Amino acid sequence: MVDERTRELRAAQEQLLRQERLTMLGQIAGGIGHELRSPLGAISNAIYLLRQTIAAPDAETREMLDLLGRQVDASNRVLTSLLSFARPQPPARRPTDVVAVIDAALAQAALPDTIVVQREFADALPELSADSDQLQIVFSNLIRNAAQAMPEGGTLTISGQRSAVSGQPPTIEIRVRDTGGGIAPEIAEKIFQPMFTTKSRGLGLGLALCKMIVEAHDGVIAVKSIVGQGTTFVITLPLGTYHLNNLG
Ligand SMILES: Nc1ncnc2c1ncn2[C@@H]1O[C@H](COP(=O)(O)OP(=O)(O)OP(=O)(O)O)[C@@H](O)[C@H]1O
Ligand SMILES: [Mg+2]
Repeated sequence: MVDERTRELRAAQEQLLRQERLTMLGQIAGGIGHELRSPLGAISNAIYLLRQTIAAPDAETREMLDLLGRQVDASNRVLTSLLSFARPQPPARRPTDVVAVIDAALAQAALPDTIVVQREFADALPELSADSDQLQIVFSNLIRNAAQAMPEGGTLTISGQRSAVSGQPPTIEIRVRDTGGGIAPEIAEKIFQPMFTTKSRGLGLGLALCKMIVEAHDGVIAVKSIVGQGTTFVITLPLGTYHLNNLG
């Protein structure tokens, strides 16, 4: 009995330490992220100005400018993840067309031609009461993960429909499915943890951020995966008070 209590106490202490480390890391990351925003902004402006000033850039110059632009975008993406994670904001809810948000995330992802995108949305999906910027971060991360899971190409299917369980408030269910390698069961339980990654160049923040944002919207995110066949992320979001109020 004493042994068991000791084990429990030790586990609780480890949990606290982990939490503390994470909080501190969040603060440091947030500080650095904030400081790096302005130099990146300056580089971005310089690229823009160079594009304006150089009247007829040769191929090599154009390529360099494009490369710079892409690298700044990638750095900004990392900063957005770090900052959103370190300094989470409550969602600024507005009536939101979730399909428009998903389309914006798809456009931003600029997927290669080897990935076929299928959109399957029910007609007249109701608007959500949600923070569209935050939701776009969620879908961008899911789309990027899906693309990274299909380096040789495949099919990305995004579907959306109303779903209702009797006695529960109405929800929208969005599925993001890929035909990549899937997730091994022993890993699946860890993927939503911050800083869990199996990628050589990954922060492991994407899904932790998705979970944080979805839950701040009173939603649920879940994963179903079959190794060798692919992965589906299922997001369920309540329609929210905006819609309920407007039902009269
Ligand atoms: N669609 C997917 N197919 C297969 N594995 C996935 C998929 N999505 C996530 N994973 C697994 O979950 C891990 C965590 O994902 P997450 O998005 O949190 O971090 P990351 O993609 O590794 O890094 P980051 O998103 O910060 O760049 C990934 O490293 C990968 O092992
Ligand atoms: Mg990711």
